[in-house]
Amino acid sequence: MTAVKEQDVSDAKILFEVRDIGKSFGVTRALDGVSVEFKPGELLAMVGANGAGKSTLIKIICGYHAEYEGQILVEGKEVQFHTPKAAYDNGIATVHQIINEGVVPSMTVYENLTLAKLLNPGLPLFYKKEALRIEAREVAATMGLEIDLDTPVDQLPQSERQMIAIARALAIKPRLLILDEPTSSLSDKESERLFAMLDRLKQLGVSILYVSHRLHEIGRIADRVIVIRDGKLAKTLQRPFQVKDMVTAMVGEIPKHSFLADRERGIDDTNTQVELRDVVVAEGAPPVNLKVRKGEILGLTGLIGAGKTELAQVLFGITQAMSGEIRMAGKVIHPRNMSEAIRAGIFYVPEDRAENAVVPLFNIRQNMTLPFLRVFDRLGIMDVNSEIKRCREMIGAMGIKCEGPEAEMDSLSGGNQQKVVVARWLLEKYNLVILDEPFQGVDIRSRHDIGEYLRTSIGDKSAIIIATDLDELIEVADRIVVMNNGAIIGEQEYEDIDRDKLLQLVAQEKEIQEREESAV
Ligand SMILES: Nc1ncnc2c1ncn2[C@@H]1O[C@H](COP(=O)(O)OP(=O)(O)OP(=O)(O)O)[C@@H](O)[C@H]1O
Ligand SMILES: [Mg+2]
Repeated sequence: MTAVKEQDVSDAKILFEVRDIGKSFGVTRALDGVSVEFKPGELLAMVGANGAGKSTLIKIICGYHAEYEGQILVEGKEVQFHTPKAAYDNGIATVHQIINEGVVPSMTVYENLTLAKLLNPGLPLFYKKEALRIEAREVAATMGLEIDLDTPVDQLPQSERQMIAIARALAIKPRLLILDEPTSSLSDKESERLFAMLDRLKQLGVSILYVSHRLHEIGRIADRVIVIRDGKLAKTLQRPFQVKDMVTAMVGEIPKHSFLADRERGIDDTNTQVELRDVVVAEGAPPVNLKVRKGEILGLTGLIGAGKTELAQVLFGITQAMSGEIRMAGKVIHPRNMSEAIRAGIFYVPEDRAENAVVPLFNIRQNMTLPFLRVFDRLGIMDVNSEIKRCREMIGAMGIKCEGPEAEMDSLSGGNQQKVVVARWLLEKYNLVILDEPFQGVDIRSRHDIGEYLRTSIGDKSAIIIATDLDELIEVADRIVVMNNGAIIGEQEYEDIDRDKLLQLVAQEKEIQEREESAV
């Protein structure tokens, strides 16, 4: 492992380079003739539609795919990494897109933070026990992680797991740091901390390869942007970046969708689907009053910890309200568990799908239809044909890039796995579907496709979309509601949406929270 030295800063020599990289999976040509130079001290961003080949390129560079075409060069010499360890020994650290590929859930935080050393057989036992704990604490501090080091990682939320994976990659002082969607589960505050760390690494001469679908974030932090399209290097963009140029190079022009006009179809104010009356989700939380109308797509936003997910969990019967009333089409319901919620026609797609939602060993068809086999059940015999037919429709509607309904989930790109999970729930007959951060890792065009599908299929059903990213909601919602500290603090109908005002509401809350934090 070669550590970064201060004198590398002025040295603009190209340390890492890939030439003419190609990779096929069966009939899928995932990458074709991609050449990239990584400059010391430069943050190179890579963007592209779901399934474009970004993660595949990363997995080749970090030694995960041993079979590929083309060359990897380190300091001008060709190398072949047959294992992730070989890449790591050359100073390449990688944070993968699927968070649970980057942590060992059954181990503690401390063990995860020091995994590389822990696995080193040459270390004497006492060193492992004492020195590694100290080191783990230092590594955790770099990312501002305040977690008990002895907590098993499987008890932590996605955002903290992601922070652990990042902290560990930073700790090995890489020469090339690769981050595949590092901010997908992070809040603004945590993202900012990461960006500050990346700045420091750049000053030390580290090369950074950064993948994200958050194009505004990229516009801010990247020094250069490469666009991958259908496995090929489509374009290189220099500062200053226009989001529009990135989008056009990634997916072409996005047509103005007819569904936006559809929003003027007029939702009947008196036609309430779900109503919350003075619902208190937890001890000391303020009462929530909210109506969701039939045919409405309601956007729910606010900072992480504002109470959005907690509200969804009460509706889905995961937790119980302390007091108040929930009504579905006028009738009082109180789902005591998930099956009661499902029986009332309420569905919830949780935020941490990697953990709760995907069955990697099942193919797409099985994953889409998994919880609802009964829908397709004819006298106890599974009607595979109707399953395949509906599955094909969803693959088309959501633009899921795959070989067909029987393709394995593992063979899909991260964003396309996401689309399968969202599609699965929309196949069911719901009264209210709650999608918690459904657009994580989903490219901008697919986001439009999902929005359009939802809008054209909603009929007199209702949807709540939870997202911290306001722009995602503006695209699809009929009304946007802002939450803070468990309370609803503002709402706007689609016709009156004022982005700045909404952002102000969210930001204003942030200031209050920060003031409170600093007062403690
Ligand atoms: N192990 C695999 N087996 C078969 N096909 C695969 C495998 N890994 C990737 N692919 C295919 O290669 C193509 C590129 O996938 P990749 O994961 O590199 O996309 P990506 O650009 O990272 O997309 P996303 O933005 O969704 O993460 C896709 O068509 C994908 O289905
Ligand atoms: Mg990917």
